Amino acid sequence: MLSRIHTILSFLFLLLQLAKPSTAFGVNGELNILDHNIMLVNTNATVPKKEKTNFETISPAKQTKIDEDCKKSIYHIENAANLIELQAKCWKVMGNIEISSNFSGSLVDLGSIKEIEGDLIIKNNKHVFRIQGYNLQVLRKLELDSLTSFVSLDLPVLREVETVDWRVLPILSSVVINGNINKVKNIVISDTALTSIDYFNNVKEVNIFNINNNRFLETLFTKLESVTKQLTVHSNAKELELDLSNLYTVENMTIKDVSTINVAKLSSVNSSLEFIENQFSSLELPLLTKIQGTLGLIDNKNLKRLNFSNVTEVQGGLMIANNTGLAKIDFFPKLRQIGGAIYFEGTFEKIDFPELKLVKGSAYIKSSSDELNCEEFTAPKNGRSIIRGGKIECTSGMKSKMLNVDEEGNVLGKQETNNDAGKKEKGKNDSKNQGSSKKMENSAPKNFFIDGLKTSIYTVLTILFAIVF
Ligand SMILES: *[C@@H]1O[C@H](CO)[C@@H](O)[C@H](O)[C@H]1NC(C)=O
Ligand SMILES: *[C@@H]1O[C@H](CO)[C@@H](O)[C@H](O)[C@H]1NC(C)=O
Ligand SMILES: *[C@@H]1O[C@H](CO)[C@@H](O)[C@H](O)[C@H]1NC(C)=O
Ligand SMILES: *[C@@H]1O[C@H](CO)[C@@H](O)[C@H](O)[C@H]1NC(C)=O
Ligand SMILES: *[C@@H]1O[C@H](CO)[C@@H](O)[C@H](O)[C@H]1NC(C)=O
Ligand SMILES: *[C@@H]1O[C@H](CO)[C@@H](O)[C@H](O)[C@H]1NC(C)=O
Ligand SMILES: *[C@@H]1O[C@H](CO)[C@@H](O)[C@H](O)[C@H]1NC(C)=O
Ligand SMILES: *[C@@H]1O[C@H](CO)[C@@H](O)[C@H](O)[C@H]1NC(C)=O
Repeated sequence: MLSRIHTILSFLFLLLQLAKPSTAFGVNGELNILDHNIMLVNTNATVPKKEKTNFETISPAKQTKIDEDCKKSIYHIENAANLIELQAKCWKVMGNIEISSNFSGSLVDLGSIKEIEGDLIIKNNKHVFRIQGYNLQVLRKLELDSLTSFVSLDLPVLREVETVDWRVLPILSSVVINGNINKVKNIVISDTALTSIDYFNNVKEVNIFNINNNRFLETLFTKLESVTKQLTVHSNAKELELDLSNLYTVENMTIKDVSTINVAKLSSVNSSLEFIENQFSSLELPLLTKIQGTLGLIDNKNLKRLNFSNVTEVQGGLMIANNTGLAKIDFFPKLRQIGGAIYFEGTFEKIDFPELKLVKGSAYIKSSSDELNCEEFTAPKNGRSIIRGGKIECTSGMKSKMLNVDEEGNVLGKQETNNDAGKKEKGKNDSKNQGSSKKMENSAPKNFFIDGLKTSIYTVLTILFAIVF
């Protein structure tokens, strides 16, 4: 009801505006030289190929000629009239379109615009309820940020977009993009009410794929094969089922709050790989051979079945912590070398790395189980440890053992503590060493991640607050 009144008002306003000269264009269509110079767009790069027809000459002349008014570097749209004027002149817009936060209409209608060579940016607007562009085929970036009334996006013929960046759209629930898109560079979808994200299913490679805080998103299936910078999925619906079954190579990947996962084809991780606070019980990466950064498995309470049977090398650190369902850390049958530190914490009873020959960093091992035998690490056979990073600390139940080793693995000093009788009996240099041995080369610190998460929660809370009041 309210939005209907809104629409009627906007329409009246629009008629009034049409009588006046608009502010969105240069005066009398004059080209602003400065604007022209700062144009970011390489006009050749995104001009779409001509549609193949039998009679090439019949394509309408007005579609090939672009009005000078359509070549500004940026269009500030203050009201619906500005937008109507723009589409009347331009089937193709060469610059960026920015919808003002003062735009008070509920509808952003791109009407007859077919191509936007620049970006469409709509930020910090409380009024926009719907965005539609029934003819829009090509766009560089679609940036939607902090739109608290925004519910529906309709771009049914969109086929080319470089970057999709949607953030803080807390009630966005309907998106129509009909799967015509084959190529996208970056996809960031954060804080929406979407229940599915399936419009990029023909895309095989992206730089960034970041889906977070979409609290109604329960399934996510992609056909992505390669993610060249960052793949992140976190804090969506707790039940999220994640299918990355075509993914074979990734730079960085962080997966959090996921209930099932399929990454069975993943073969190379060129930077780091993290699984944090997931609910899944099984994680199988049988084709993965090498991780060029850190591997982290943290707080996956139900995790029982793992398959890293092909991994031979972890070039960063290896962190396996608080996966309370894991009784053994014995799922790296071929791992020979770890370039950073190891950090194992939890309730595990056994550690077994049959092929491990070298750990370049330190080792911090702490299990609440008395069953864990620390000797393997603290009493190296033939006197030389495979740990070369200076410090080894292993705690099993109440007993801690610490070793200092040199770069060749020779033992320099030993210390034993029994924490049973209370903290006062701890070794003098205990705490100092504990601090430094926790450090991991190359590791993506968990705190960084949690901080990011807190920031998002804060944002959502702020927005919810804004809606209520
Ligand atoms: C656009 O393409 C034409 C012909 O291929 C070329 O001569 C021109 O230099 C290009 N312009 C830019 C800005 O790349
Ligand atoms: C919105 O309108 C106000 C008052 O007309 C103006 O001062 C402000 O700069 C406008 N904001 C934007 C983002 O255009
Ligand atoms: C990772 O490295 C391999 C080998 O250098 C390369 O073929 C692959 O494309 C890289 N993957 C990514 C996501 O950059
Ligand atoms: C291990 O990886 C190789 C490719 O590097 C592959 O041919 C082989 O089948 C994998 N082994 C298993 C057990 O999956
Ligand atoms: C891991 O997966 C491979 C391929 O499916 C299989 O051959 C191997 O037995 C599995 N290893 C474990 C420990 O489950
Ligand atoms: C593991 O759990 C313990 C006890 O809850 C906690 O103190 C520790 O910080 C956790 N470790 C990691 C790496 O999350
Ligand atoms: C503890 O400190 C003493 C002297 O401060 C040093 O000689 C010894 O090596 C240290 N022990 C360990 C395990 O760091
Ligand atoms: C991968 O993640 C690590 C740690 O989060 C970061 O330092 C690094 O820059 C990332 N690499 C890329 C290519 O994004």
